[in-house]
Amino acid sequence: MLKIGIIGVGTVGQSVCQILEANKDIITARAGVELVATIGVVSDMSKKRDVNIKLTNNPDDILDDPTIDIVVELMGGVDKAYEVVKKALKNGKAVVTANKALLAYHRYELQTLAGDNAFEFEASVAGGIPIINALRDGLSANHIVSIWGILNGTCNYMLTKMINEGADYKEVLAEAQSLGYAEADPTFDVGGFDAAHKLLILASIAYGIDSKPEDILIEGIQNISADDIYFAKEFGFSIKLLTIAQINKNNEVELRVHPALISNTDMIAKVDGVMNAISVLGDKVGETLYVGAGAGGDATASAVIANIIDIARRGKGSSSPMLGFKTPLEGGLKLAKKDDIETKYYLRLHVEDKSGVLAKVATILGDSGISIKNMVQKPFDEDSANLLLSTHICKEKEIKIALENLEKANLVLSKPSMIRIEE
Ligand code: NAP
Ligand code: HSE
Repeated sequence: MLKIGIIGVGTVGQSVCQILEANKDIITARAGVELVATIGVVSDMSKKRDVNIKLTNNPDDILDDPTIDIVVELMGGVDKAYEVVKKALKNGKAVVTANKALLAYHRYELQTLAGDNAFEFEASVAGGIPIINALRDGLSANHIVSIWGILNGTCNYMLTKMINEGADYKEVLAEAQSLGYAEADPTFDVGGFDAAHKLLILASIAYGIDSKPEDILIEGIQNISADDIYFAKEFGFSIKLLTIAQINKNNEVELRVHPALISNTDMIAKVDGVMNAISVLGDKVGETLYVGAGAGGDATASAVIANIIDIARRGKGSSSPMLGFKTPLEGGLKLAKKDDIETKYYLRLHVEDKSGVLAKVATILGDSGISIKNMVQKPFDEDSANLLLSTHICKEKEIKIALENLEKANLVLSKPSMIRIEE
C-alpha cells in the first residue's frame, strides 16, 4: 500500500479522495498497489467536506510523517505552497501538484531539488488533458514549432456564455466560481495570468525557456465589450482567450496570452464552455490536437491521480527527465520581446461623424507603419460612428504608438478597442 497525504482538500482535493475510492479497483490494478489517501490539510476545520480522511490544519502532520509516501499539493497560491513542496521534497517524498502559479515561479528550482525523486504536475495545465505527458513523452522526437490554444476554462466558459447568450460578465464569472472552475482569486483567470502560468510550464518543456510571467505579453478578457462581441459575430468571428507559444521568424520563442478574434470556421472556435483545446505543431509529426475539460474537480483530479498511479508503477523514482527542465533545449533559444510580436489587429474607434476624421485616422495609422486591410463605418448616434478596422500584419509597438497618437490627437471619443486577430 502507498499512503497519500493531500495538502488542500478543496474542489480538486475532495475529487481526488472521492475518485481514489470510487475507482479503487481499476486504480489498484493499474498502479499494482493499493493507493490510499489517509490525511488531508485544510485551513478551516469547521467546513463540511465530502471525504473520508482524517483532517488537520498543520501541513507538518503530513510532511513529517515517515509513513506518507506521496504528498499531493492542492492548496494553491505561491509562497506557502512553495514552503510545503520544498519540505516534502527535502523529506524524500514523491510530490504531485496541480499548482501552476507555483510552477510559473519555481519550476526549475523545485525540479532540481527533486533530483531523482518524483515531482509531477500533469494537472497544472489544461485540467484533465494529458498535455504535459504528450509534450514530454509522445512528441519528444520533434522540434516544437508552436503550441496554440485555449488554456483557461473559466474564461472560455465566460466568453461562450457572453457570446452565445449575451450573459453578463459579473454574473457569468460568479457561475464559473460556483462550478469550481475559477482560481481562489479569479483575477488570475480573467486577467490572463493563469493561462500565462500554464504557457510558461509548456514552454519550459518544449523549449527550455526559463521566463517569468512579467516577461511575456499577458492581456485578459476584462475589456471585451458587448459592442466588440456584437461586431465579431456580425463579421463571422468568435472571441477566445488564446495562449500562444511559437518560434518566430528570428528563431526566438514568442509567448503571449490575449483575447483574439478567430474565424468561426476554425476548429478552436467551436471549443466552448469549460473545455480547453491545444494544437501542438511538431516539425516531424505535424499538427496534433488535444481537447477536453480544462477545469473542474473531477477532470483535474483525473490528471492528479494519473501522476500518482505513474509514481506507484515506477516506485517513486523520477520520470524521464523533464526535457527543458533539466537541459537547455534548442541551443538556448531566446524569448522574443513583447513589442516585437507581429500579428493582425481589429480596432474599433468611436469617432465624430464628420468630414476629415477618416483621413486623419488613416494618416496616424499610416505614420506608425500600419496598413489597413478592411474598414467599415457603423452609426453610433446622430453625430458619431464606430470605425471598424482590420490591419495587415504589424508590430505590437506600432499599434501601441498609433493608439496613443489617436488619443493624443483627440480623434476618438472613448478609449479605442483593440483585439488581435489570429488566423
Ligand atoms: P480550493 O477549492 O480553493 O481548495 C484549496 C484547499 O487548500 C482548501 O481545502 C483550503 O482550505 C486549503 N488551503 C489553502 N490555503 C491553505 C493554508 N494556508 N493552510 C491550510 N490549508 C489551506 O482550490 P482548488 O480549486 O481545489 O485548486 C487547488 C489547486 O489546483 C490550485 O493550485 C489550482 O490552481 C489548481 N487547479 C485547480 C483546478 C480547478 O478546476 N479547480 C484545475 C487545475 C488546477 P479550506 O477548504 O479550509 O479553505
Ligand atoms: N482556473 C483554472 C481555469 C483552473 O479556469 O482554467 C484550471 O487550471
